[in-house]
Amino acid sequence: MRKILIVEDDPSVRETLITFLQDCEGYNVDSASSTAEAMTKLGNDSYPIVISDVYLDERTGLDILRAAKSSNPDCSVILMSGRGSMETVMEATRRGAFDYIAKPFELDQMLEVVKRAEAAALPSDDEETEIEDMPATEMIGYSRAMMEVYKTISKAAPTDATVLIQGETGTGKELVARMIHNNSQRAQQPFVPVDCASMTASLLESELFGALRGSYTGADRDRVGALEAANNGTVFLDEIGDIDHSFQLRLLRFLQEKEVRPIGASRPRKVDVRVIAATNRDLSKMAEEKKFREDLFYRLNVVPIRLPALRERREDIPFLAEHFRKRANERFALDAEITKSGQRALLEYTWPGNVRQLQHLVERLVILAPQARLDEEAVLDAIQSMSSNEAAGDSLADTETEQIRKVLAATGGNKSRAAKILGIERKTLYRKLERMGIK
Ligand SMILES: Nc1ncnc2c1ncn2[C@@H]1O[C@H](COP(=O)(O)OP(=O)(O)OP(=O)(O)O)[C@@H](O)[C@H]1O
Ligand SMILES: [Mg+2]
Repeated sequence: MRKILIVEDDPSVRETLITFLQDCEGYNVDSASSTAEAMTKLGNDSYPIVISDVYLDERTGLDILRAAKSSNPDCSVILMSGRGSMETVMEATRRGAFDYIAKPFELDQMLEVVKRAEAAALPSDDEETEIEDMPATEMIGYSRAMMEVYKTISKAAPTDATVLIQGETGTGKELVARMIHNNSQRAQQPFVPVDCASMTASLLESELFGALRGSYTGADRDRVGALEAANNGTVFLDEIGDIDHSFQLRLLRFLQEKEVRPIGASRPRKVDVRVIAATNRDLSKMAEEKKFREDLFYRLNVVPIRLPALRERREDIPFLAEHFRKRANERFALDAEITKSGQRALLEYTWPGNVRQLQHLVERLVILAPQARLDEEAVLDAIQSMSSNEAAGDSLADTETEQIRKVLAATGGNKSRAAKILGIERKTLYRKLERMGIK
């Protein structure tokens, strides 16, 4: 424990960090001045914490992040950069970076992040990692509709067949994709999710296929594409219904040839990846309306899985609620109970946000419900304030200061998790904290 790897090409920053963390704070610090050196160290040793610069050499901090996570999935990777774009920060977060620090920073600020990372990396706190970043692979649900889903998963998983998962938001599409991967022969190989909706077509192209340095303005490094990073493993193309028409053709070609040509590269390389795609849109209808290429739809829809909305399988609600209650109790060291009337209120709601919404609501109640009892009144209040938050995008109940304090205390100061539990956006939480005078 207390071992840290620092990856930084700027000798002055590197030395400052080493001196501070090792000599002043007593950590056991290792360092690397290039990505190659870092990769070797990550290959030989396991680090609970890695601090890496983003812009290094021909590879970047994101490659370090990937390598660190594959050598130790519990590793907390802290990225630092002087020119963090929205894209890099989002990318880093999406790939499970622990935090992102803008340069220049105060040493105390770095120490605070390291301490949080340390707490998160303690084995006993394993459960405390972000639920959606490290999802439990356990699927709850005993309804008939879910049984059908499990059957299809178990048949499809061991094959290399392309799977198309369709379902409303929050129904568990990503969880299903991970289950398929974990139960396939590729389980020990990478699972690489790509959120196709969050990127422009050109960004998506370099994200998937990679780009050579100098291939377009701003490409000052080689970039390994997700399809290549997922070689021998599985790529998860999330929100596939959102990709643009011209890019659909590119993807179709890839599915036919299984070849990747990074932007600026002269020849393609063969890759062996399994493709799982997901969308909350109705792709067959989009294909009929010519909004989605029909040929691509058929290529993807080899094994279709349709996840039922939660309101179509209400009988699963009590089990899911109990599951999330227990997990939240454990995670926050609390002892909340759901009463009979509370169960009934949960059963009666329509859950437009499906399982995810139920999960966040239960977590929130575990922390905030009066006397730790999730009864009808508490549930209805929470549902009410959740819907008004969604409408207003910014408000919380009157007692919000107290709620925010409680939730932050329960999450150990983790603001992004707190925001999810409170049902508000992270930036909204920051604004509120500022107003409350809490840093
Ligand atoms: N059957 C289930 N059992 C336990 N947890 C579940 C189940 N289904 C979903 N979840 C949990 O609900 C949350 C949302 O699931 P997931 O991210 O897979 O949904 P999604 O369909 O991909 O949503 P979106 O369309 O918004 O991307 C996750 O935390 C996941 O672990
Ligand atoms: Mg998803």
